[in-house]
Amino acid sequence: MTVSALVAAEAPIGVFDSGVGGLSVLRALQAELPHERFVYFADSGHAPYGERNGQYVVERSRQVLGQLRREHAVKMLVVACNTATAAAIHLLRAEHPGLPIVGVEPALKPAVAASRTRRIGVLATRGTLASAKYAALQASLGNEATFIAQPCDGLAAAIERFDTTKIVALCAQYTGALGTFGNKNGQIDTLVLGCTHYPIVADQLRACVGSQVTLIETGPPVARQARNVLETASLVSDHATSSSEVCLLSSGNAALLREAAARWLGVNATAGVYPVVASS
Ligand code: DGL
Repeated sequence: MTVSALVAAEAPIGVFDSGVGGLSVLRALQAELPHERFVYFADSGHAPYGERNGQYVVERSRQVLGQLRREHAVKMLVVACNTATAAAIHLLRAEHPGLPIVGVEPALKPAVAASRTRRIGVLATRGTLASAKYAALQASLGNEATFIAQPCDGLAAAIERFDTTKIVALCAQYTGALGTFGNKNGQIDTLVLGCTHYPIVADQLRACVGSQVTLIETGPPVARQARNVLETASLVSDHATSSSEVCLLSSGNAALLREAAARWLGVNATAGVYPVVASS
């Protein structure tokens, strides 16, 4: 390994989402890469992304990545947001050649592997479900299962606010709209959590669909992919004795982000706040 590769390997990994949802991916990243440093950016001042137009999400993604590179010299970016991945990852990769960028998408392929009834429910944001990337993903698996997709307006926003009453009502409404759950023919036996906010309310969703249904989230496979990409680029940190560190940044309410991280990651993370950048 060259000296500059060694220096780069000790740089942090940037992780970003519209808000607290990407913490579900960060948790998996910490488990997979326990000696890395992470800078997590929650763009809560501009959340939710899922009900915005694609160009808005592209512009926010560009600004966040620019900031993470300028101020933290990140060695890799994990776009821990399905909506931003669908809208912007191809542009981010084109504009930052040489920076490894890993994204997330609804885990339809693992769902096909898990399902027996071949009826799969997909909960995601309106933006993700309307994207060309999602259409291509579903079309590539079209014959293998029936996918029933439900946009979940308002759910990510309710999770951002820890608004339990609203969360419970929306989980019931959106799972109810998908159809009947269970493991008999004609029933949905697998539910894809196609937004990184939704694993945070897995218990509420589970209460709606019952214990026989498999809930599929993307954190662990994304973390494995991030490790593979780092290894291929010789960017794995050599600090075998140090433990994972997280720096939290928010364009919104930093206290809420800290609280969510403590609940989710069980670690104390340092927290800072970026000024809210106006965006049309
Ligand atoms: N967590 C994000 C996702 O995975 C988006 C939630 C939102 O801001 O609407 O799609």
